[in-house]
Formats: sequence, C-alpha cells, structure tokens
Amino acid sequence: MKQIQFPKSFLWGAATSSHQIEGNMNNDWSEWEISEERKRYHETKGNDLTQFISGLACDSFSRPKEDLNCLKQLGVNAYRFSIEWSRIEPQQGKFDLAVLQQYRIFIQKLRAQGIEPFVTLWHWPVPLWVRDQGGWKSSKTAEYFDVFVAKVVESFGDVVKFWVTLNEPQVYTSNSFFVGIWPPQEKNLFTCIRVMKHLVHAHKLAYTTIKSANVDHQVGIASHNIHFSAKQPWIVNQLIAKISVYFWNDWFLNKIQKYQDFVGLNYYFYRSLDLRFGKPGKHRLTSDLGWELHPEGIKQVLLGLKKFRKPVYILEHGLADKEDQHRMWYIKESLIAVAEAIEHGVDVRGYFHWSLLDNFEWAEGFTARFGLFEVDFETCKRKPRASVAGYREIIKQNGWK
Ligand code: FCB
Repeated sequence: MKQIQFPKSFLWGAATSSHQIEGNMNNDWSEWEISEERKRYHETKGNDLTQFISGLACDSFSRPKEDLNCLKQLGVNAYRFSIEWSRIEPQQGKFDLAVLQQYRIFIQKLRAQGIEPFVTLWHWPVPLWVRDQGGWKSSKTAEYFDVFVAKVVESFGDVVKFWVTLNEPQVYTSNSFFVGIWPPQEKNLFTCIRVMKHLVHAHKLAYTTIKSANVDHQVGIASHNIHFSAKQPWIVNQLIAKISVYFWNDWFLNKIQKYQDFVGLNYYFYRSLDLRFGKPGKHRLTSDLGWELHPEGIKQVLLGLKKFRKPVYILEHGLADKEDQHRMWYIKESLIAVAEAIEHGVDVRGYFHWSLLDNFEWAEGFTARFGLFEVDFETCKRKPRASVAGYREIIKQNGWK
C-alpha cells in the first residue's frame, strides 16, 4: 500500500453524540422511542423492542473515565462529542449547573490528556419544553438555542476552541419533516424548508454569540455530504447529479458561508444517479446496514468543498461492521483518498472516526455496530475491536510507511 504522511498538526480523533451514548435521556427522541405508535410499529415488524429504546445506551454520562480510557488507548489527539441541551436546560431558562460542571470537568480531563475537544451543540434531540413549543418548526427555537449556546460558552468557553453548532441539518430536516421516519414524523416539503431556514438562522445566531465571546473560537457545522455521480455520462444524469449537489451538499453551507471558520464534513454515502434516482450499484462491498462502501467518494466530496476556501475537518466517517471485517480497509482506503484531496489543495486538518463506541443508532437502534470499541449493552463494558490497534498505529505514524 502506498506511503502516506498527513500534515504535521493533523488532528486524529473519534466521534460520538450525547443521545447515542450517555443514557437516561429525557428529550423528544427518548419519548418518541417509547411512544405507543413506535411500539406498534416495531411489533408489526416483529422487532425486539429493547433494541430500539436508547435507555442506558453506553452509560457514558456515568462513565466518563471509561470513555477517556478508550480515547487514551487509541492515542487520539482530538475527540468530537455533543453536549445534551435537554440535560443542561431541562426547563426553559433553568440551567443545571451540576451538569455544566460535569461536562467542564470532562473537557478539562481531555485537555490534560492532550486531546482537543470538538463540542457539538446540537446533535438532533431537543428538550421537551422546546418540542412542546413547536421544536424547530417554530422561529422562536433559534433564539432559545442561542440562549443555551451563550450559557455553554460562558461555562466552558475558556477550555473549548472548536464548536460544531449543528449536526447534519439536511439529514435531520429531511428525515423528520419530509420522509417522516424520525420524530416528529412529518411529511411536508414546506415544513421541511421552513425548518432548514430556522436552522440557518440558529447557526448564524450561535456563530455570532460564540465569536463575540472570543474571536479565536472556531465555529462550523457538520454537513452530511454525499458523493453524487452520474451513472452514465448522459446530460440528464449529470444534471441530476449537479442539482443534488447544489441542494443536498451545498445549500446550507452556501447560506452560512460568512458565518463559518471551517467546514465540517460527515461522509457516508455514494449515489450513482440516473432517472431512478440513485439505486446503489450491485456489486460493491456494503456495511452491516447495507450502506455501500465507496472510499474514493470522500475525495470527490472534499474537492467539492474547496470552493468554500476554509479549513476542512472530517467530523464523521465510519461504518457499521460488527465483525470488524472491513473497518481497517475502509479507513485506510478512505485516508488515501483524503491524502489525494489534500494534494489537490483541499485544506483538510483532521479526521474523526465514527464512532468511538458501539452506540444507539437513531432508527436502527443497537443493532448497528459502528464502534472502534465494542460495547456489551448488558454490562456497558467496552472492549477494543482489532481496528483499535490499526487506527492507533496510523495515528502514531501520522499516516503509514
Ligand atoms: C450520521 C449521524 C451520526 C450517526 C452516523 C452513523 O448521520 O450524524 O449520529 O448516526 O450517521
């Protein structure tokens, strides 16, 4: 395999989100998981209900030491995680100072271990009081979010430099308000567009708040960009690919162009397009979730981000692979593609693998195993998969020789 060396101060990390790992949540998602409608849905499918209720998840909120240990074993110099709005502000304007303090201590411990924290401020669930006032459908929510952000920045702005305001606005908005598979399960294009606009507004407000606390803060979003390519080089297919890039990959980033210090990329998908709209190819390798593994795609989406002329952090990239059969192959092949994008002038400064731990995957529940560390959900014990050693070696060598 070709030798690869990444730029000197490259950040190597792993990523998680609060709802997926912390456990004992009380937000719109956790209520949705146990709703009668959801129960009926799983019953008709013959699913084991317990697999689809986040419950204790990895119990990370009570086991920060164990997560720190995993990070240490990996040898990462960065960690992306989210803080939970519903824990910090369980009632409007009432902040839980003990929770804020607990996050602060965790961040200090990361720093003491030489790990740069990347804090995500919103990774999908909202507090119940926000949901009850209309959630992101309400124009007020951006302002509520800004109040929350101001409090967080006041509480640990001195120990955090990198802030990810929103995770994958396009995925959340389409699944929750257009496709209707996530709470609140609406199917209305106009609502979907309205929510997108509110999220744009929320990001801008949060950006301004964070930067006014300290101009050195680095703020961006995590955008879920897909590699769209034309199945056959016909004009109509190329046009479909271009439109998809414009709306799916670039729309949000264009809207916030003047309000971001870096572009955060989450890369999972590849779509080869024709008029049937992106049926995946048949002969490719897939993850346990049936997602096609197409490492070269990351180079193409990175090249697509060059026009924003900002540093890029790959904030998520990974696969569900319980047996750890393809993980190392996928990481390495993708990193080769990342290195090529860097050679072509994309200023990539970091890579975060999704995920540090097996965790609660939104609609797929506990069956999807994305972790570098395997989690036994009975005991919450973490155990390294073989890829931990492989990834650790890459980090140590800043590539491979
Ligand atoms: C991304 C989400 C993340 C995780 C991965 C598999 O879209 O941001 O929380 O679910 O997919």
